[in-house]
Amino acid sequence: MSETAASESDALVFFGATGDLAYRQIFPALQALIRRGRLEMPIIGVAKSTMDVDGLRARAHESLERHGGADAGAFAALSKQMQYVNGDYRDPETFRRLRQALGRTSRPLYYLAIPPDLFGTVVEGLAGADCLHGARVVVEKPFGRDLASAQALNRTLHEHCPESAIFRIDHYLGKEPVQNLLYFRFANSFLEPIWNREHIESVHVTMAEEFGVEGRGRFYDGVGAIRDVVQNHLLQVVALLTMEAPLGHLAEDIRDGKQRAFRAMRPLAPSEVVRGQYAGYRQESGVAPDSDVETFAAMRLHIDTWRWADVPFHVRAGKHLPQTAMELHVTLRRPPQRVFDDAPAAANVVRFRLSPNVIISLGVRVKVPGEAMIGDNIELLAQHIAEGDEMAPYERLLGDAIRGDAMLFVREDAVEAAWRIVDPVLGDKTPIHQYEPKTWGPAEAARTSVAGSGWYNPGPSVQRPL
Ligand code: BG6
Repeated sequence: MSETAASESDALVFFGATGDLAYRQIFPALQALIRRGRLEMPIIGVAKSTMDVDGLRARAHESLERHGGADAGAFAALSKQMQYVNGDYRDPETFRRLRQALGRTSRPLYYLAIPPDLFGTVVEGLAGADCLHGARVVVEKPFGRDLASAQALNRTLHEHCPESAIFRIDHYLGKEPVQNLLYFRFANSFLEPIWNREHIESVHVTMAEEFGVEGRGRFYDGVGAIRDVVQNHLLQVVALLTMEAPLGHLAEDIRDGKQRAFRAMRPLAPSEVVRGQYAGYRQESGVAPDSDVETFAAMRLHIDTWRWADVPFHVRAGKHLPQTAMELHVTLRRPPQRVFDDAPAAANVVRFRLSPNVIISLGVRVKVPGEAMIGDNIELLAQHIAEGDEMAPYERLLGDAIRGDAMLFVREDAVEAAWRIVDPVLGDKTPIHQYEPKTWGPAEAARTSVAGSGWYNPGPSVQRPL
């Protein structure tokens, strides 16, 4: 929720109109917004290609067919509203033509779905053609390559736009189960008294993907897992899991709370990070034959606050792992005494499964029916069954940006704070270990878990019966 009633944008311009992100995410989001009646404005794609506007419409149609299906009415509206400006981002003429295409609109939203090294060029082009009055600018991740480049990018953007006009996207923040982390923690009273070092032994966060770089080798080889998903998606999730209660419910209260959580995360130590690369990665198209870019990273993170001191956070992400799932496991301390004569009590675990399905569960021990006081480990579990009409992250985030609601976007200080955490381990500061596809990364990853106690792998997607 924004503090002031912000005015809605009256045109949507997306740079990178012929690119991969537009194809996978933006066209479906535009169609969804049109179906909800939330996008009655000119939609202008910008890119440099041999396509004309009909070519762009055809590409939009193909994208929709591939991602959930084209809705005849909404696609007709999208086609009608869509314009295309073809040109080089370094050529001022491109921006003059864009200015013309914008006509009488006065509050455009620019979505930069382009590589980060072009953000500055495009914003300067927009400023040069007088396109930035009343505008909002949405920028994709990764926001920079490290702390220094993120700071430089922030300076460039701020030369032309106030912070209130800049919307840094992290699509994880648009996901329902990610928002629910914040909601679940602070809309209930039972969790907060135990959500600290007195009761929590460790936290494991895993983002596993069964697939590889899927034709994105050129992009990925310049980035690697730490820049691609740790600096943003994973640290955002950890911030939501660990932040203090916000002082209020306004966007800035929540962003302030998250910012303090980032500031408390200790910069990663190279000795507590293990990087891996799946066998066969160097043969992927667009990847350097001697690449030492990581497709897997496991790390131990520390949060230096009274609440979290000495609680280890194990965070890992990787491609070509045995399954696709994102889970957070919060392990509580064991009971202080062994009262029953069966196996030692297992620790209680709070499990947040964020994808591919959504589960919140509590791992507990219950007595098995019978004469003996013998127990079994079970999960008390709530599973969210998706109903057809839920908003996908890009639809949610674009809709928010159009309305000027910045709550689910990353603020300048937060993006820099997150880079500060990963900066010491970027690039080749740690060795790279090869791992076989369909395994949980290199064996060395065990080193980052507490006393080699191992990692929690994402659990079952459904509960076995009692
Ligand atoms: C993107 C990364 O930001 O997130 C990809 O660039 C990754 O490498 C993707 O696969 C994962 O997103 P999701 O929503 O499919 O979990």
